[in-house]
Amino acid sequence: MAEDTSTPASPDPGPLPGGPPADPTKVWNFQSAAITENQPGWGGDLGFDTTVAHNARVWNYWLGGRDNFPADREVGEQVRQMFPGIVDVARADRAFLGRAVRYLAGEAGIRQFLDIGTGLPTADNTHEVAQRIAPDSRIVYVDNDPLVLVHARALLVGIPEGATDYIDADAHDPGSILRAAAETLDFAKPTAIMFLGSLNFILDTDTAVAVVDHLIDHVPSGSYLVVAHPTHELGGEANAASMRHWNEHATPPITPRSRDEVARFFHGLELLEPGIVSCSRWRPDSASAGGLPPEVPQFGAVARKL
Ligand SMILES: C[S@@+](CC[C@H](N)C(=O)[O-])C[C@H]1O[C@@H](n2cnc3c(N)ncnc32)[C@H](O)[C@@H]1O
Repeated sequence: MAEDTSTPASPDPGPLPGGPPADPTKVWNFQSAAITENQPGWGGDLGFDTTVAHNARVWNYWLGGRDNFPADREVGEQVRQMFPGIVDVARADRAFLGRAVRYLAGEAGIRQFLDIGTGLPTADNTHEVAQRIAPDSRIVYVDNDPLVLVHARALLVGIPEGATDYIDADAHDPGSILRAAAETLDFAKPTAIMFLGSLNFILDTDTAVAVVDHLIDHVPSGSYLVVAHPTHELGGEANAASMRHWNEHATPPITPRSRDEVARFFHGLELLEPGIVSCSRWRPDSASAGGLPPEVPQFGAVARKL
């Protein structure tokens, strides 16, 4: 474990040798004043442990971001060595988010988004994609990582015609999420409920299905569910081993799910074409229409409430 545990990543140390390069055209590297001032112990002051790798920060590392600490980069790099495709997973997930939200704000006419498991701000966050198409879109972000909370103000910079809000809450508690989100969203109107890379932190499948059901029960017909979820079915043994490594060395623990298990989240809903597929293959952009993009071990799917 690296010794420099009280010093956050910025100013940018540059990519680790062999690590994914930061791509400033793709990644929006927010650095709060607290971070750039480089105050020792600030992580502790904010209530989180910088010595243990945490998902939001490692995900940020794989995306080429700078909002991560030595422990995050160390585990992120170990996982990448075991399963180099993890960087493609992160990028494909973000691209899926963009395509799904563009479809929802465009063709589907959705104006409300509840994005649970937001992650650290990066390029093309949900509110930016939606409000680019429909400026009156209203977005509520939900995460339980204290560093995401520090950056939440960056997520709250929407445009005057719409609204963005951030809720510090646990995905295991959909009732609290609905109560807080109701200050910004009108749950009498169709709403997109989004779980991208976050249902995998609700380890018990029955519990995860119950969380989704609770939320879907509280939105009207014409609402949507968007899920991106890791799976062992597409990634092989290296991917499985890297997830075991994650669960031994980082937080929170993660579980992959089979296609049949992911299908349980969509019961009673109308799955849009092409169904539950590798998220890289969910309605790929025309640029890649010459052939389907390579699969990544992360399912993506969108469904409509009838
Ligand atoms: C893999 S990142 C995905 C971020 C973003 N949705 C994306 O697709 O790029 C997962 C996010 O879920 C958050 N998360 C994990 N467990 C959670 C929980 N129990 N409640 C709320 N958020 C959680 C993490 O903090 C992290 O920001």
